Amino acid sequence: MSETAKIELDGKVFELPIITGSENEKALDISKLRGQSGYITLDRGFKNTGSCTSAITFLDGEKGILRYRGYPIEQLAENASFLEVTYLILKGELPTADQLAAFEEKIDSHTLVHEDMKRFFEAYPAKAHPMGILASMICSMSTFYPESQDPNRSEEAFELSIIRLIAKLPTLAAMVYKNTVRHPFMYPKNDLGYVENFMYMTYGMPTEEYKPDPVIASALNKLLILHADHEQNCSASTVRIVGSSQANLYASISAGISALWGPLHGGANQAVIEMLEMIKEDGGDLDKWIAKAKDKQDPFRLMGFGHRVYKNFDPRATIIKKACDDILGKLGVNDPTLEIAKRLEEVALNDEYFKARGLYPNVDFYSGIIYKAIGIPTEMFTVMFALGRLPGWIAQWKEMLDNGDPIGRPRQVYTGENERDFVALDKR
Ligand code: SDX
Repeated sequence: MSETAKIELDGKVFELPIITGSENEKALDISKLRGQSGYITLDRGFKNTGSCTSAITFLDGEKGILRYRGYPIEQLAENASFLEVTYLILKGELPTADQLAAFEEKIDSHTLVHEDMKRFFEAYPAKAHPMGILASMICSMSTFYPESQDPNRSEEAFELSIIRLIAKLPTLAAMVYKNTVRHPFMYPKNDLGYVENFMYMTYGMPTEEYKPDPVIASALNKLLILHADHEQNCSASTVRIVGSSQANLYASISAGISALWGPLHGGANQAVIEMLEMIKEDGGDLDKWIAKAKDKQDPFRLMGFGHRVYKNFDPRATIIKKACDDILGKLGVNDPTLEIAKRLEEVALNDEYFKARGLYPNVDFYSGIIYKAIGIPTEMFTVMFALGRLPGWIAQWKEMLDNGDPIGRPRQVYTGENERDFVALDKR
C-alpha cells in the first residue's frame, strides 16, 4: 500500500501519492492535483519541485554528499579516468578493462571534426566569447550529421551520435581556444589519452614536439570528473526540456551550453577570477567587498559562493581546493589570487550573513585558479566546465527519453489584465 498525503482545498480532501527514492527522499506526486482540484502549485525557480525521477546522480546538500551511479566522487576523482567516469555515467556501471578499451577505441575513431567546420571561425569577430562559438558549433553538428535529427533513429545511430559528441567536443574546444589566441589548429593525436589529446590540441604547436605534462593532465582529469554531472541543475534541466520536444541530441546539448554560460551557473568560474582580480587591483580590502556582497542595494555578489542545494559545503570545492595547493606547488606557481581566495573564504565563513544563509564556496570558487595556473584563458573556463559536464548532460537526456518523460510544459498563474474590448486607433 503506497503512502499518501492529504490536502484540504475548498472543503474537499484530496489524497496525493508519496514517492520515496532509493535514498529515502520523499516527494508528493502532484501529477493529478489539477485534474482533481483545479489547483496547480507555484514554485519560482523550482526550488522545491522535482521534474523527474533519475538514477544517475545522488547528492545530499545538507551532508555534502555527491555520488555518480552510487560511487562517491572522492573515490572516482582519486582513482578513475574521465572516460571511465563517462562510461559509468552513461551506462550505469564501471567498465571492465575490455569495455573501456572498446569505448576508447570508438571515441578515437571520431575525434576529427568535418573540415568545413573550420570555416565557421573565419566569420567570428576576434573577441568572440568561446561559449558563443561552442554552442553554435555543437548545434551545427546536427546539420553535418542529419541522421541525428531523426527521433526514430536506430540504436546504433543513436549510439554513434553520442560517441561523435564525446569524441569531438575536446577537438572543438581546443579549436575555440586556438581561435582565441589566433594560433593554428592542431589535429588530434589518437595515441594520446582523452585529456592528454585535448592538451596536445590546445597547447601544442605544429612547429615543435609537445609532451603533455602529467601533473597538469592529472589535475584536468580530476576537474573533469568533478564536473561530470550534478543531477537537475539549470543546464541539465535545459537539456532535458529541449530534448523532451524530440529535438536532436546536438541541439539539446547546445542549449545546455548556453544555459551553463550564465554567471550564476557555469559562467561563475570566469566571474570568480574576474572578481578576485578586481579585489586585488582594488587593494585587497576584503571587508569592503564582503560588505558589498551583503548589501541588498549593491548588485555585487560573492561569485563562487552559495549554492541552490549545498547549504553546508560543496564536496567538489573541498577536493578542488586541495588540488589547487597541490598543482600550484608542483608547478611552482605563486598566484596572489589564491591567497585572496583563501582569505575571502575565511572571512566569509566567519560572517553571520553567510553562515545564516548557508553560503559556502562552490565548485567554481577554486577551479578557475587551477585553470589559470595551467595557462587556460579566463574566457575558456566555462568551456572547460562544459567539457566535464558533457557525460552528465547526455545521460540526463537519454534517461528522459528512456523513461518516456512527456514534453516539458509547466503551468503558470496569470496575473495580467482581465478580458477587455479592442479600442480603435482613433479612439485611444
Ligand atoms: C553552479 O545547481 C547546480 O548544481 C549548479 C552547479 C552544477 O554543478 O551544475 O553546482 C554549478 O552553478 C554553482 C553555482 C555558481 N554560481 C555562483 O557562484 C554565483 C554566485 N552564487 C549565487 O548567485 C547563488 O548562490 C546561486 C545562484 C548559486 C544560488 O542561488 P539561490 O539558490 O537562488 O539562492 P538565493 O539567490 O535565493 O540566495 C539566498 C540568499 C539571498 O539572500 P536573502 O534574500 O535570504 O537575504 O543568499 C543570498 C541571497 O541574496 N546569496 C548571496 C550569494 N548567494 C546567495 N549573497 C551574496 N553572495 C552570494 N554569492
